[in-house]
Amino acid sequence: MNFKAFENKIWLATPTMHGEEIKYVKKAYETNWMSTVGENVNEVERIAAEKSEMKYGVALSSCTAALHLCVKIAGERLYGKPAVSHGALEGKRVFCSDMTFAATLNPVVYEGGIPVFIDTEADSWNMDPVALERAFKLYPDVKLVVSAELYGFPGRIDLIKDICERHGALLIEDAAEAMGATVCGRQCGSFGDYSAISYNGNKIITGSSGGCLLTNDIDVAAKARKWSTQSRENAEWYQHEDVGYNYRMSNVVAGVVRGQYPHLEEHIAQKKEIYERYRNGFKDLPVQMNPITPDTEPNYWLSAMVIDREYMCHQTRDEKTASYVSEEGKSCPTEILERLASLNAEGRPIWKPMHMQPIFRTHGFVSREEGYDVGADIFERGLCLPSDNKMTSDDQDIIIDIIKSCF
Ligand SMILES: Cc1ncc(COP(=O)(O)O)c(C=O)c1O
Repeated sequence: MNFKAFENKIWLATPTMHGEEIKYVKKAYETNWMSTVGENVNEVERIAAEKSEMKYGVALSSCTAALHLCVKIAGERLYGKPAVSHGALEGKRVFCSDMTFAATLNPVVYEGGIPVFIDTEADSWNMDPVALERAFKLYPDVKLVVSAELYGFPGRIDLIKDICERHGALLIEDAAEAMGATVCGRQCGSFGDYSAISYNGNKIITGSSGGCLLTNDIDVAAKARKWSTQSRENAEWYQHEDVGYNYRMSNVVAGVVRGQYPHLEEHIAQKKEIYERYRNGFKDLPVQMNPITPDTEPNYWLSAMVIDREYMCHQTRDEKTASYVSEEGKSCPTEILERLASLNAEGRPIWKPMHMQPIFRTHGFVSREEGYDVGADIFERGLCLPSDNKMTSDDQDIIIDIIKSCF
């Protein structure tokens, strides 16, 4: 089947602006609050906390910065304040999601910690609670877990939290991709002792960049705010008792985020429609969409699919390149991604699991049973689909037909 390339590129996920954003940005400009303080920053903190059902938000330059401060705060609470040139997790193992963006766990490494990766649950594509339980048996000294929600489709983070509590461990929830999603009626971002959300350009709402740390502890919020502004003490000169960071959100970026928040539910509804259109369009194909875990409501940020194993054509991947052998009735992520790209549409591979990454290959990896590796399997058979909420239904129907034609 011959398809015409899309005239305008069909993207994976791009920002969707509405008009309110520029009003808040303009006001910052006109009143000269062109800095990391101002009404927009205060409002983002208030709204983020309220929406996420946490008491306090700390507006930061990125979710990675938020995760870094979460990790540092957790490390100091668990192991005490480190010497100036040492990380807060120096030499300590930390259980981390395996199939996620590296930003989930890089901050563990910034603080000298050693990530041990927990396999993915086949039924949810999130951290496997059974594997986590097993990991605590193998590494009883571990006191910190960093768990991310995948593509806005949460697993049972409430069960992960229970396991952490039973083992006396703290939980950091990386809800970068899951803002507005719920588990048992509770907002993602509200399960961690400390949590982080992202306003990166491709997320469900955006500030062009930015992130927010969420906590119920007023002292933690105050400490994160202080660290994020170079750790200046309340003194008559530049006085420092802690290492500092330049992590605060700009009042201009905060204006964009502030203008986006009223549209969160609308974006979720659009993304849900995209997911359902794919699910419907693929009902006769040997593929499965991202699983929806019982008792959860996703934000549907990125639609993704896996191809049933019997319908995978031969695909090989080395460290940086992939190839495949086309076969009638079968396909693979490489073929589909190449076909989409050739027609001016953007898909992506599933996050390559961290235990498969060259940098982390010597680190521990715990699955629910010896020899299991769910993450590697989903990575091999899966891909993220164009999920831009400005894609028209006609465009999406063509994407569906293109994918069908690969089989
Ligand atoms: C799961 C996850 N964690 C962390 C991040 C980092 O967020 P940011 O780009 O705001 O630093 C992202 C995406 O960017 C992400 O997808």
